[in-house]
Amino acid sequence: MEDGTYEAVLMQGSGTFVVESVISSLVPRDGKLLVAINGAYGRRMAEIAKTLAIETEVIIVPEAQPVAPTQIENVLVRDPAITHVGMVHCETTTGILNPVEEVGRIARRLQRTFIVDAMSSFGGMPMDIRGCGIDLLVSSANKCIQGVPGFGFVLARRALLLEAEGRARSVSLDLVSQWKGMETDGQFRFTPPTHAILAFWRTLQELEAEGGITGRASRYAENAQILIEGMEKLGFEPYLARQNQSHIITSFRYLKQPDFDFKRFYHLLSDQGFVIYPGKLSDADSFRIGTIGHIFPEDVQALLVAIQRSLEEMRISRSQVVPEA
Ligand SMILES: Cc1ncc(COP(=O)(O)O)c(C=O)c1O
Repeated sequence: MEDGTYEAVLMQGSGTFVVESVISSLVPRDGKLLVAINGAYGRRMAEIAKTLAIETEVIIVPEAQPVAPTQIENVLVRDPAITHVGMVHCETTTGILNPVEEVGRIARRLQRTFIVDAMSSFGGMPMDIRGCGIDLLVSSANKCIQGVPGFGFVLARRALLLEAEGRARSVSLDLVSQWKGMETDGQFRFTPPTHAILAFWRTLQELEAEGGITGRASRYAENAQILIEGMEKLGFEPYLARQNQSHIITSFRYLKQPDFDFKRFYHLLSDQGFVIYPGKLSDADSFRIGTIGHIFPEDVQALLVAIQRSLEEMRISRSQVVPEA
């Protein structure tokens, strides 16, 4: 088969298990991983590598900023010991999009293996994996594919899987054995996540019926636009600059208003059937609202009405938070 062929390998567990499977199975004993971090999931990648006693270097970028490709390039040029580069595509901590294409080009030119955690973005936005120079992409069944939790998958360059045989640091998370086992008899090596796979099959049909990834991406983009515009009208400020914001999830700052109490806000919304996501930022009080999944523009409109009601309940009026024009 031609070099550059990709294989899809399924792995039981949540998304983190699959990231761990890639790092523990692919990076050689004398390898070194560079991780670019601008949020919790980048930090987790580095934590996984360090726990596995893999030599690891990190580039830490403020959470509101995308990773800078030149910074990665400089480190790679300076340190020839680095064999692998890891980065999160959509860092779900904030909803920021990192520049996979530029970083992929640099990694390819400098002959490093590029690992991308596209957990929250794969299937929700068009992505040319080969064109972006991605060698290993990780995602899971339960994000933009809209399946249920239970397994994740890796899109891996075949040549890298072949080369990595015998490198695994774990039996259950051995990606190469998993791939080979599946190729040999079509079976998972251990108890398969049967229900999650059946659900996945169904959701792939739904994805196709929605117009594939392009169709799904346009619904998510519409969801996010309605959300952000509506929230701004209610006085909430998105944490990220618009050009860095994905349509996957949006972080909003707490209202600077003594009567705004996030716990109360959260419960008022959940009483109306809407569960939002507490913030994960290290430098600002925030909460997050996702716009992926089986969510449609009318659901986002209904959420905005529920948010307005909750603010009224908390006796916060729009004129208190939005300066009159
Ligand atoms: C970008 C990213 N990476 C990794 C994970 C971890 O996935 P899991 O919670 O399924 O282990 C998540 C979960 O939201 C994520 O968004």
